[in-house]
Amino acid sequence: MPCTVIVGAFWGDEGKGKIISYLALKDKLDVCVRTGSVNAAHTVWYKGNRYALHMVPAAFVHEKCRLLIASGANVQVAQFLKEVEETKVKNRIGVDQQASIIEEKHSTQDKTSAHLKELGTTGRGVGPAIEERARRTAKLAKDIPELQPYLADVAAETNNAIDAGKNVLLEGTQGLLLSLFHGTYPYVTSRDTSASAICSETGVGPTKVNNVLLVFKSFMTRVGAGPFPGELTKEEAKRRGWFETAAGTGRDRRSAPFNFDLAKKAVMINGATQAALTKLDVLYPECKSAQTYEELPKETKQFIEEIEKQTGIPVTIIGTGPDALDIIDRRK
Ligand code: IMP
Ligand code: MG
Repeated sequence: MPCTVIVGAFWGDEGKGKIISYLALKDKLDVCVRTGSVNAAHTVWYKGNRYALHMVPAAFVHEKCRLLIASGANVQVAQFLKEVEETKVKNRIGVDQQASIIEEKHSTQDKTSAHLKELGTTGRGVGPAIEERARRTAKLAKDIPELQPYLADVAAETNNAIDAGKNVLLEGTQGLLLSLFHGTYPYVTSRDTSASAICSETGVGPTKVNNVLLVFKSFMTRVGAGPFPGELTKEEAKRRGWFETAAGTGRDRRSAPFNFDLAKKAVMINGATQAALTKLDVLYPECKSAQTYEELPKETKQFIEEIEKQTGIPVTIIGTGPDALDIIDRRK
């Protein structure tokens, strides 16, 4: 049952896109299922091109991978069609017939509600579309003429692939601390973002998953309002080289040092079996493009070992640069 769930540990933007694109190429993924919606952007750098994906699964870089959008996902039709064009995946992408649709009015509501503005939402209409689904008045993918060629039964396809021993990855979006249930409510997104929720959105039961890969970034970032332990000033973030802007909205990201207590919480709630650690080269520039654990400086190894000691799970995949292949892979 080779089924892996990938989830973010903190407030999203841990670099899941990069890790997924690496696994797609390295492990020759057969199926990748995208959950969540267009509030999240997964960045993939491959062959000199940069993709900021809001809908298409980040595993598209492996040309034989079947790409699916889960029934629990929310589809923005124009964005979906645009990305399908850009990534040239028309013949291998499917959308679950019950995925729900983000309409123009949802984005307008998201951008004009004083309450949502205060939370600092991405303004992409995801929260209002989920409200509409909960009211049972939402449009679904099967109601949309442009989506007819793509309609699929994602739960059936995914379960069949797992049962056939294929290599399946469930692509979580955002991070645990943005979870509607487990995050810093009310400063959260409109859904649960934990590993169980990713399975639920796809329609895969907990007994079918054998690997939960939790993605940490070497420091933390947060976009939008809400508590953020250890937050640095923008000046300090710039001085350290940690200052980022959001891939989706272009907003400034707040930043803070890695927090071990939050990391432990993310391991617990996600039932994580192993971790990926991204942007190690931002924290320790001498690690840039390193390909083996042995070549890392002592101080860097100590940081990784501290994460393993405190969380109790191995750090198996380490990102040392933006390209999909800038990775140290310590998996057996
Ligand atoms: P919403 O998901 O657009 O409703 O925004 C709610 C909160 O989640 C805001 O603080 C957003 O900045 C944050 N958020 C939503 N999606 C992402 C993401 O993919 N990365 C980082 N922050 C996100
Ligand atoms: Mg992102």
